[in-house]
Amino acid sequence: MSCDEGFIGVFDSGVGGTSVLGELVHELPHEHFVYYGDSANAPYGDKTPEQVLELSEHIVQRFIDDGARAIVIACNTATSCAAEILRARWQDIPIVGVEPALKPAVEAGCHEAILVMATSTTLKLEKFKRLMEAYGKDREVIPLACPGLADRIERGSLDEPDLALLVNSFVGSYRDKVDGVVLGCTHYPFIKNHIIAALGNVAMYDGGRGVAHQLRRLLERDGLLACGDADGRVEFCSSDDDEHRLELYQHFFEHALAIAERNGS
Ligand code: DGL
Repeated sequence: MSCDEGFIGVFDSGVGGTSVLGELVHELPHEHFVYYGDSANAPYGDKTPEQVLELSEHIVQRFIDDGARAIVIACNTATSCAAEILRARWQDIPIVGVEPALKPAVEAGCHEAILVMATSTTLKLEKFKRLMEAYGKDREVIPLACPGLADRIERGSLDEPDLALLVNSFVGSYRDKVDGVVLGCTHYPFIKNHIIAALGNVAMYDGGRGVAHQLRRLLERDGLLACGDADGRVEFCSSDDDEHRLELYQHFFEHALAIAERNGS
């Protein structure tokens, strides 16, 4: 497939992957992205790895049937459950996943203790164990499963007090005990304000920018990067039929893109 055909398929269990999409569009503004939120099946974090694999295979098959030239799994949970199997099955197409950004948090070299917030499924699988073996030995790294948090973010209205309370119930007891936080679920970059309110001024790390750089590398390697004069665009679709869903994706995406542009690359 040439660089002016097809699109880049990006998916998550719902709205969370738009935090990655913001970085992707900032890094690759000439690409055509199709974002698929599997909101009808969210949250993934409470499902078995087999269920998440099946859902992910279904989405990737659909993307490929529709003409995708690369895939981004904008979901830590789906990456842990499915990335290796998806890459083995579809070897001709670049498939980029996201993992908790523990490596950059450790390599920043300035943290005494790092909290890793993620779904239960992400934290219990082999991929995260390997990450802990590689980066969790020389300093204190505390994995923290946050069941229900992605599901609550999925419902929007992020300024409501119930969400602040929920975040505080997970992380509040770590105030003054951690100085770095890894946002190991793509929904969590949208609640940084609540995390700061609960923990004070900690540094936060997510995998979005790393994914965007990796996608650029793979597209360049395979000669698939869109031409510099192509008009980039983003389309949204969802597995559920809530009439407000796509507006929510668009709204979260615009917020993520504004942050990516403010922070630069
Ligand atoms: N946003 C996803 C992740 O990065 C999944 C959250 C969920 O559906 O539980 O893990």
